[in-house]
Amino acid sequence: MTAQTDAPSVPRLGNATGLSCRECGNTTPLGPYYACEMCFGPLEVCYDFPRLTRAEIEAGPNNIWRYAPLLPVPADIADRPTTQPGYTKLIRADGLAAELGMRRLWIKDDSGNPTHSFKDRVVAVALAAATEMGFKVLACPSTGNLANAVAAAAARAGIRSVVMVPANLELQKILTTAVYGGTFVTVDGNYDDVNRLASELAGEHEDWAFVNVNVRPYYAEGSKTLGYEIAEQLGWRLPDQIVVPVASGAQLVKIDKGFTELTELGLVESSPWKVFGAQATGCSPVSEAFAQGWDVVRPVKPDTIAKSLAIGNPADGPYVLDVVRRTGGAVADVSDDEVVDSMRLLARSQGVFGETAGGVTVGVLRKLLASGQLDPDAETVIINSGDGLKTLDAVAPTVIVPAKIKPTMAAFQAAGFEDGLLS
Ligand SMILES: Cc1ncc(COP(=O)(O)O)c(C=O)c1O
Ligand SMILES: [Zn+2]
Repeated sequence: MTAQTDAPSVPRLGNATGLSCRECGNTTPLGPYYACEMCFGPLEVCYDFPRLTRAEIEAGPNNIWRYAPLLPVPADIADRPTTQPGYTKLIRADGLAAELGMRRLWIKDDSGNPTHSFKDRVVAVALAAATEMGFKVLACPSTGNLANAVAAAAARAGIRSVVMVPANLELQKILTTAVYGGTFVTVDGNYDDVNRLASELAGEHEDWAFVNVNVRPYYAEGSKTLGYEIAEQLGWRLPDQIVVPVASGAQLVKIDKGFTELTELGLVESSPWKVFGAQATGCSPVSEAFAQGWDVVRPVKPDTIAKSLAIGNPADGPYVLDVVRRTGGAVADVSDDEVVDSMRLLARSQGVFGETAGGVTVGVLRKLLASGQLDPDAETVIINSGDGLKTLDAVAPTVIVPAKIKPTMAAFQAAGFEDGLLS
């Protein structure tokens, strides 16, 4: 019982007051708990928020800790050794908008985070809460980006990490995890197999914080900061529509929660927003449930190049369905060919090289515009959640690398580069 006995009796997690069950509403004190003791439903952090002004937030650090009063983290978190993720660019995407016939489109480019994906946000919050609760080791099962973020955050904080991934991940994600040191396990199985193993290990090692398993309620709160930043960067306004990639579904659900909280706190004016979820067809259990009108998500065996989104049994799937139905959005999926085509469109039209998850999001944006479910005239934000440099194999077969020439004017002219600026 190391985590419980070493932990302060009441962890100091800012304005967080406890945990409540997302299914039955039963409440539990703050602590290393993730499942309701009444119904086994997932737990969520609740708060007693202070009055907070835009100016107070704007005076904070240029990272997610500017929203520390809205997160389950100690008040002095900005002074602790963390990777300081967040406050990534919100890019006005006029080039892509013109291609798609849209009026006002923005890209929230989370490839700009310290390990180049939005996972640095959730890991930073999980690490802060886990440390406060007495955990000694930071761990995770991962589809790749989370592995990068956990290994880096643990190295920064000077604690041990145990990171587990499916062995067939992209080489770039393997190398960019291994480089941080820590214990790195590649498993002969898919993500859902790795996740099951992690759950068993979490039961055996009570001082290991598996960020997305036994400290999941705290971890997931980190994605609210995407919603906060988008609103702040739009000048304290909410967009009309947002398109978010879905694996476990936590990111989508928490962006919606972030918008709701800002509205309730009076930090943005109340206005309706629609949330849309994006999956790859080869792993689209939530899109399937949406299309069929189901409330539950039927697990699938993933088979897609969008490996970061390859979660066949998504923990937050039913809550994604709730959010998109409540807001009037949708969930859709696109094929691997469309993912690659959309990655290239994003790069070519906008100068943003997103990973396969970004291709999924742009692909679904195109699809839902074509079907009329997304309004081309409404202000829209899409999330680019990771960096294309980590999934080079996806585009390698389609990108033409020109043959080399001799370093002479004659060779340059003979190759025809000047004729219409051939590429
Ligand atoms: C790049 C990227 N985008 C999106 C997601 C989906 O996040 P979530 O599991 O919160 O739905 C992941 C998950 O690993 C990811 O790596
Ligand atoms: Zn419950």
